[in-house]
Amino acid sequence: MDKIIVEGGRRLSGEVEVSGAKNAALPLIFASLLTDRPCRLRGLPEVADIRTALGLLEHMGARVERWGSEATIDCSRLAETEAPYDLVRTMRASFLTLGPLLARFGKARVSRPGGCAIGSRPVDVHVAAMAALGARVEDEAGYIEARSGRLRASHVILEKPSVGATENLMMAASLAEGTTRVENAAREPEITDLAKALAAMGAGISGAGSSVIEVEGVERLGGFDHDVIPDRIEAGTFLIAGAITRGELSVRGARAGDLGALLEALRASGCSVDELEGAVRISADGPLRPVDIRTAPYPGFATDLQAQFMALMCTASGRSVITEAVFENRFMHVSELARMGADIRLSGHQAEVGGAAELAGAPVMATDLRASVCLVLAGLAAAGRTEISRVYHLDRGYERIEEKLGSVGARIERRPVQG
Ligand code: UD1
Repeated sequence: MDKIIVEGGRRLSGEVEVSGAKNAALPLIFASLLTDRPCRLRGLPEVADIRTALGLLEHMGARVERWGSEATIDCSRLAETEAPYDLVRTMRASFLTLGPLLARFGKARVSRPGGCAIGSRPVDVHVAAMAALGARVEDEAGYIEARSGRLRASHVILEKPSVGATENLMMAASLAEGTTRVENAAREPEITDLAKALAAMGAGISGAGSSVIEVEGVERLGGFDHDVIPDRIEAGTFLIAGAITRGELSVRGARAGDLGALLEALRASGCSVDELEGAVRISADGPLRPVDIRTAPYPGFATDLQAQFMALMCTASGRSVITEAVFENRFMHVSELARMGADIRLSGHQAEVGGAAELAGAPVMATDLRASVCLVLAGLAAAGRTEISRVYHLDRGYERIEEKLGSVGARIERRPVQG
């Protein structure tokens, strides 16, 4: 288990590049289960979740060839339609095997997911969506088991605009008979990226990016050759790194259109944000104003950037209120930030952040993916040395973060811990 050590107090400056989006790449990897043709992906980030997803497919009998950020996946000879507990427990997105397996093979057995411990994270919306397409779904000793003949199109109104349930449904509907209409669909850019690949495979898809998506299923799908979109959460994290160190950073690959709510909040706090061709540049100087945010499904403020923004608000000139409205237990970073001198009061879904904190380095522990990166950001702003343990959470979703931040002036290193 490695540790990340940050010596804070250095202003970041220069240019940093974002990797492909983990959350776009994962559903794309699982979409390859829909076809017996090879599927090629470019722009895969080198992070643990992608290795887990490819490993899961190999376990099922897929042939995977990977070189750097590219991979070819061939699911023509799948031996298994089960996603076992051992492989699913570390990553909730493995649940995205349900729709494709069911649609192509008429059966799927997928362990109830694990992943970051940020609330109960049920799968009822996924299950209802599969049932709407005609599947019989049972909850059996920790596994969701689904069976069906060829799935039939339906008019599905999702109870919540769940990102994963929208993806599972789009993939399953691509092989269903007829045209499925999905209302209250998630609108995230990752959904639009998946729709593009499904269309290349031969499904008829319209409306992705809006809350009503229509999917015209076909009997067989072909392969795809697809470039994954850049990671908007990594991009947002780097923009906040620029702001929290009162530095100046160009984040190459950041797409301003995907980051609207964050850019608005950064501008409201007094940062200067420029939208350039293929990059977003941030600069910040002196005290920042407090800004209240409330997380919401896209295009609202991303819950995956809430912890990072809270770290920034600890350094603002006054009180701000941060409301987490997507997940029920996503404030685990608060107690760790408090160890570094932050003044944060929690009440239900809201955190009142005191601001004006003189953050000081301390030993802290990562508890989930985004919480861990928020501690890295706080460490960059803090006086002295911050030691972050349990960085395997960080490694699930950030590629070479110490190298990337180091290249723009951060003093940060990874140290293996013995024993
Ligand atoms: C995806 C992202 C994750 C992000 C989240 C919200 C991936 C791989 N992960 O996760 O990083 O934080 O979107 O933007 O893309 N819910 C239910 N029942 C369900 C499904 C979800 O009640 O069947 C609830 C969840 O508990 C949560 C909310 O809906 O409160 C949103 O979850 P969802 O959009 O499904 O998140 P994920 O797809 O798991």
